Amino acid sequence: MKAMPLLLVTLALAVCNSAPVAAQNQHLATGKQVFEANCQECHGIKARGVVKDWQKPDADGKYPAPPLNGSAHAWHHDMKTLLGTINRGGIPLGGTMPAFKDVLTEEEKKAVLAYIQSLWPKDIYDAWKERNG
Ligand code: HEC
Repeated sequence: MKAMPLLLVTLALAVCNSAPVAAQNQHLATGKQVFEANCQECHGIKARGVVKDWQKPDADGKYPAPPLNGSAHAWHHDMKTLLGTINRGGIPLGGTMPAFKDVLTEEEKKAVLAYIQSLWPKDIYDAWKERNG
């Protein structure tokens, strides 16, 4: 029966180690839900965008929603700027994105950004961290 305490210690350690991972997974799952319900319509499935050329204005002179998956410009911005875009949208700057300030909770805003960042290729995320981390 000597093995028993060791087994318990091992189990306890395993549970402790997986807790942050579980919380992170939960955070990302929330972010995915928030994205699909609020952003996907414009920014596309997995934030890939919905138009071929997001840098070309529409017929009405407005820019389409850019991809947010690391292929466009979003990764150049720090966390504060990204949160600011979610809060204020693009309308004050002549764009068309609606404001989400009172639509999403602070937790949901952070979760959706975490989800978006989870779609970035590793080199893009590393470059972002280098700039903004
Ligand atoms: C009605 C369409 C629409 C919806 C819904 C929408 N967006 Fe946008 N988004 C845009 C457009 C269009 C732009 C480009 C700026 C502008 O015209 O307002 C943009 C820009 C952005 C940017 C800046 C990208 C960059 O390269 O600087 C971020 C970040 C962003 N959106 C995140 C989100 C998130 C997160 C959601 C959901 C909570 C969301 N958007 C919902 C249309 C939308």
